[in-house]
Amino acid sequence: MTSLLRGTERAVRGARSVSGSVRVPGDKSISHRAALFNAFGTGRASISNFSPGADCASTLDCLRDLGVGVEREGERVGIAGRGLRGFIEPRDVLDCANSGTTMRLLSGVLAGSGIYAVLNGDASLRRRPMARVVEPLRRAGARIEGRDGGRLAPLSIMPVPTLRGVEHRLSVASAQVKSALLLAGLFGDAPTTVVELAQTRDHTERMLRAMGAGLEQDGPRCTINPADGLRCVHVEVPGDFSAAAFWLVLGALHPRAEVRVDNVGLNPSRTGLLTILRQMGAQIGVEHVRDVAGEPVADLVATTSQLHGTTVRGELVPLAIDEIPLVALLGQFADGETVVADAAELRAKESDRLAVVAEGLRALGGNVQTTQDGWIVEASRLRGGTVDAHDDHRMAMLFALAGTLGEGAAIAGAESVAISYPRFWDDLERLTAA
Ligand code: S3P
Repeated sequence: MTSLLRGTERAVRGARSVSGSVRVPGDKSISHRAALFNAFGTGRASISNFSPGADCASTLDCLRDLGVGVEREGERVGIAGRGLRGFIEPRDVLDCANSGTTMRLLSGVLAGSGIYAVLNGDASLRRRPMARVVEPLRRAGARIEGRDGGRLAPLSIMPVPTLRGVEHRLSVASAQVKSALLLAGLFGDAPTTVVELAQTRDHTERMLRAMGAGLEQDGPRCTINPADGLRCVHVEVPGDFSAAAFWLVLGALHPRAEVRVDNVGLNPSRTGLLTILRQMGAQIGVEHVRDVAGEPVADLVATTSQLHGTTVRGELVPLAIDEIPLVALLGQFADGETVVADAAELRAKESDRLAVVAEGLRALGGNVQTTQDGWIVEASRLRGGTVDAHDDHRMAMLFALAGTLGEGAAIAGAESVAISYPRFWDDLERLTAA
């Protein structure tokens, strides 16, 4: 069995109970944006509770290579803004490592920055689709090349005097693509409009507005005005809902559980999983709702719940895009059938999550059938086994829960949790120690 394993293996055991409270890392999406946007702002910014994950460290590394003053002390990051068009041409390739957000958002900014830059990443990122940003950026006048005609990284971005303000109608529901195009819009010769296919996370719009950008929302249409300069803003990053999601699911599913997760960002464009959990009958308490730097935040409590199957499709999918894999796990414990559809985007993540979830849960005794754009899941008893996370952080954490709820699991690629949640294994041990 062990010969199947790659990378660092981690074993988890079935837990007798799950209890305690946990503080999740700072939100990954907001941390990327706080660093990158302030880097082209005017002035200085302090970011607190910055994500400790490797993905956000990749953004900081790229910014340093672009001449940005970045100071880091644990979870506090200081950024000295260089102003719009203030980046210095990097001497070497910018390494986005495993981070799609770094590559796609940087493409949008660099397209208008007037410098030559090459963006590369690890094997996973070099497999992920880039035409979704390259093609619309070219329509706005950007000069970008990449492997396979611009479909794959590495991407090289050539300087152009200015970009055109255009209207983009997105053909995928993607906050990364929307953000890249809005960022490029700052460098346009006229306003740029992005029309979304379905609502996706809106951290970019909130933060750019706070920095003084002219940005108007009209239903699915978001229009941004070209800017001369934006002011740096301090950001207190809320806890990551996508990290909290694992504990909410563990708390709801384990027969003896009460888990508290403090300081969690509850931006409505991120909390589709709360809707799904409630739809399935889960008890999730939401306490002390407050506003932190323009984002709603609360403390959440999940307790043992009896769940029933549900169908997740349509506009709910992008609102829970990184949490959809957890629905396959929820379905193992729910009465009746659980169906996920319209989720083909999961194939374009750090791994093909439709395939990896089904393969992994089946290896642990789960009953998951893959369809073109989702799964059909029936309740089943999870037993022990060996699973491969395919170096995908969210897959490693999902299989850790499956093992904890069932009869254990040996997980290959376990070290990948460092991408978004380096202390995941410690928190899991603490919550299941009793
Ligand atoms: C992200 C957007 C989502 C999400 C990713 C982070 C962002 O990707 O899956 O983890 O920070 O904008 P897509 O925009 O590709 O759906």
